[in-house]
Amino acid sequence: MVCEKEHIREIVGSLAVPLTGRTVEEMNLLRGIETSGGTSVIRLAVPFREGRVKEVFHQVVKEALQEHCSLEEIELKIESGGPSNINRIRQVIAVISGKGGVGKSLVSSLIALALRRSGQKVGILDGDITGPSIPRMFGLNGTPGGGEGGIFPAITRSGITVMSINLLLEQDDDPVIWRGPLIARAITQFWEEVYWGDIDTLVVDCPPGTADAPLTVMQSLPVSSVVVVFSPQNLVEMIVRKAVKMVRSLEKPLLGAVENMSYLNVPGLEKPLHVFGPSRAVELTAALGIPLLGQIPLDPDLARLCDEGKIEFYRSKALEDFEKKLLGELGNALRAVRRES
Ligand SMILES: Nc1ncnc2c1ncn2[C@@H]1O[C@H](COP(=O)(O)OP(=O)(O)OP(=O)(O)O)[C@@H](O)[C@H]1O
Ligand SMILES: [Mg+2]
Repeated sequence: MVCEKEHIREIVGSLAVPLTGRTVEEMNLLRGIETSGGTSVIRLAVPFREGRVKEVFHQVVKEALQEHCSLEEIELKIESGGPSNINRIRQVIAVISGKGGVGKSLVSSLIALALRRSGQKVGILDGDITGPSIPRMFGLNGTPGGGEGGIFPAITRSGITVMSINLLLEQDDDPVIWRGPLIARAITQFWEEVYWGDIDTLVVDCPPGTADAPLTVMQSLPVSSVVVVFSPQNLVEMIVRKAVKMVRSLEKPLLGAVENMSYLNVPGLEKPLHVFGPSRAVELTAALGIPLLGQIPLDPDLARLCDEGKIEFYRSKALEDFEKKLLGELGNALRAVRRES
């Protein structure tokens, strides 16, 4: 029985890759299928060295193909490969804020969730080396495994891949007391030495501010969109302007801004409570000439789910509106890039 290329791709693509928790397709391991004169040569890159795991995997692939195809016609070539050979990341969204504590990590997670729900393959690079909080929101712990040239990201309940320094610390409350260059190195290592595999969007939760670390993200990663997070306070407005100026001076595309902690819905009260004063998000984003992607309320349910590591269960009308607007703006940005090229 001769196997068509597509059929081979399906069989091999759906196989689980040992140690990684993901499939061949998700890891982007299939390098090529060449068919000539009734023989198919299948080339796979694997994220582990010569040895037992590789042998076992070879056997698994062979057996899966044997079930559906005649083996005389198939030659299997398996080579070890590092993340730079394997990763395919189509777009990178950097999430920044001029100031800490405005909910940047939360918004990074909500962006990743929105894209995941829309069917994308999504990763989160926790670029906040000294204040990592992504694993906690998703309830991730445990040390990620390693391969030939790098480490495997953790995987959340809904299939988002995550890398954070917190996953590598012995205790998740161990402080990381590093100077700028080491932090910058860690961020670039998370880009270069993690087996992200096949990712439609990598969301990067940047460290707060406009100093060294967010600059490293902007300059050393191929950032395709930037989202600025802010909260409704006067001081924050000035800081948002600074963040937007930084992005513009680096000539990175600004996707828009998200106002977090915009208001609080109090049961029994007809109108929302503006805890930090009235929102000026519409005026501010209009003055800056960027889309307002969403206004996320202060929500005790959201805070609780974050603390319990269950952010993926959060649903609300504000989140739905944000998701719609975000996907719409990403679509617009993509069309604009296509028009230009
Ligand atoms: N809209 C919200 N509703 C409820 N809780 C929120 C909201 N936004 C943030 N929080 C809570 O506030 C905490 C801080 O948010 P987050 O970690 O996202 O801030 P950050 O801007 O990333 O902070 P840092 O600058 O320290 O990295 C989180 O634990 C989260 O649970
Ligand atoms: Mg944070």
